[in-house]
Amino acid sequence: MGKLGIFVDRQTLSSTVQLASLIKFREEAENLEHDAYFVFPKEIKKISGLDALFIRSRTDSMNISYAAARIAELNGVPVIDDSESIRVCSDKINMYFHLMKKEVPMPKTIFMKKGEVTLENLEKVFKIFHRPIILKEPSTSFSARVERVYTKEEFIKVSRRFIKLSDWFVVQEYIESEFDWRIGVLNGEFLYACKYIIPNKTFKIQDSVDGHLVYCDVESIPKDQVPEEVINLGIKAANSIGNGLYGVDIKEGQNGIYVIEVNDNPSLDGGEDKSYPDIYEKIINHLMREKAK
Ligand SMILES: Nc1ncnc2c1ncn2[C@@H]1O[C@H](COP(=O)(O)OP(=O)(O)O)[C@@H](O)[C@H]1O
Ligand SMILES: [Mg+2]
Repeated sequence: MGKLGIFVDRQTLSSTVQLASLIKFREEAENLEHDAYFVFPKEIKKISGLDALFIRSRTDSMNISYAAARIAELNGVPVIDDSESIRVCSDKINMYFHLMKKEVPMPKTIFMKKGEVTLENLEKVFKIFHRPIILKEPSTSFSARVERVYTKEEFIKVSRRFIKLSDWFVVQEYIESEFDWRIGVLNGEFLYACKYIIPNKTFKIQDSVDGHLVYCDVESIPKDQVPEEVINLGIKAANSIGNGLYGVDIKEGQNGIYVIEVNDNPSLDGGEDKSYPDIYEKIINHLMREKAK
C-alpha cells in the first residue's frame, strides 16, 4: 500500500472526459489498495511525502509540471513524466535529435534558423522536398504550430511567424495518411495502440476548419490488429527518449513507416484505453515497483 499523487491543474479538470479518466485512475489505484490523491500546483510541497507521482497536467519545460517532476526526483519519488522526458519532448528539435541518434525512421527533416530563409536557400529546399512541405515551430503541441505549405511565399510567411517564437524551426517531408498510429509505451514495453483518424479538410489531428475546431476520432485497436513493425517502431522511438510513459505517433507512408513525434504525457482520456482496460493498473504497478527498488 502506498501514497500515489496525481498532479493536476485547473485545465486538466476542465473537461468531463478528462475528469472521468482521472477518477477512473484514482479508483484503479484504490482497487490496488493504494491511497490516491489529487495534487494541485498550490500543494506542490506535498510531493516529497508521496510514494509515487503521476503527472496529468500539461507538460512543457516552462510549466509547473516540470517543477513537480524535479521535486519528485530530488526527493526520490518515482514520477511519470520524468523531467528529462518533459525537457526533450517539449522541444521538437531536441526530440528529433534523439530519434536521429538512434536511427529511428522519420520523414526527411532539416532544421532552419532565422537568417537562412533566403530565396536561394528556398530554391534548394523546394528541390530536396516534394510539395507540400511541413513546417513546425519546436514548442508546438496539439497541432497548434504545424503548417503545410505549397509555395515559397507560404513558406516565408509561416516561417516568419515561427521565428518570432523560436530561433529554429523544423522543415519536414509531408507524409500523406488518413490516420496517425498512436503507440503507447511504458518502460520500454507496449502499452496500447489506437488510431487518430484525421478529420476531413485538414491534415492534422486537430485544427480550425472554416472557423470551427475539429478533432480526430480515436479508435482503440487491439494489439493483434496492429502491424508488428508499427509496435516495434513505437518501442524503439520511445526507448530513444527514456523509460517512462510515451505516446508515439507513426504514419504509414507509401515507402515505409515513420515516426512523426514522441509525446510525453500522452492523452488517455479520448478512448485510447477501450481495448486496453489494464492501462492504469500497469502504470500504477510500474510506479510502485520503482518505489520498492
Ligand atoms: N511530416 C508530416 N506529414 C504529414 N502530417 C504531419 C507531419 N507532421 C505532423 N503532421 C500532422 O500534424 C499533427 C501535429 O504534428 P506533431 O508533430 O505531432 O505536432 P504537435 O506536437 O503540435 O502535435 C500530427 O498529428 C500529424 O497528423
Ligand atoms: Mg502531436
